Amino acid sequence: MRRLPDGVRVAPSILSADFARLREQVAEVLAAGAKIIHVDVMDGHFVPPITVGPLVVSALREQVERAQAALDVHLMVSRPERHVADFAKAGADSITVHAEATEHLAYAVASVHENGTSCGVAINPATPPQQLSETLDGIEIALCMTVNPGWGGQPFTARSPGKVERLRTLAPEQVRIEVDGGIDARTAPLCAQAGASIFVAGSAIFATPDPGRAYEAIARSVGAS
Ligand code: DX5
Ligand code: ZN
Repeated sequence: MRRLPDGVRVAPSILSADFARLREQVAEVLAAGAKIIHVDVMDGHFVPPITVGPLVVSALREQVERAQAALDVHLMVSRPERHVADFAKAGADSITVHAEATEHLAYAVASVHENGTSCGVAINPATPPQQLSETLDGIEIALCMTVNPGWGGQPFTARSPGKVERLRTLAPEQVRIEVDGGIDARTAPLCAQAGASIFVAGSAIFATPDPGRAYEAIARSVGAS
């Protein structure tokens, strides 16, 4: 099974990158030490915006692999089980589906694993951690959204650290907790203290003049490797 690199990691989200210069922007964070590149897939249905599909994952594959980094695909799409195979084939190392996006979460998780990639399950701010109680045993990552999914640049939801703590208590030790939304060098440490170990950051990295340095500042704030 393909996996994300172990340890405490900051994962730049290309959602806030300049797509006309995507290769260059990804090269900057890889050069700064990023080992996980986060790709946000939105379908205009589960969330209002439409972003990218498997083509962008396969376009990044070689560059990311050459840096011994991994692709973390976050599916904000309805009925994600219908799309898992395409993203796995395109080169995803980990695929995250939303608990709210399918009536068949166990089936969606099984499809991710059958396609040879690690599996994450995400929950929105209004979804309680208990919603994952029957799933946590069989997944690699629990993603706690720290904003409402759909857009970059939103403020961090203040009650998130408490929720991450409850999720950490509920989840078996081997399940990593990922946080996504409003993460920067101030909010990442709050989530780290609560038990998160993968920190997705979009605008705090790519909406700055120097994405490499911005990555380093967040990585330093949580002691990421
Ligand atoms: C939002 C996406 C995030 C987004 C985060 O729905 O899942 O990955 O890129 O953006 P920031 O870090 O700007 O909140
Ligand atoms: Zn995301």
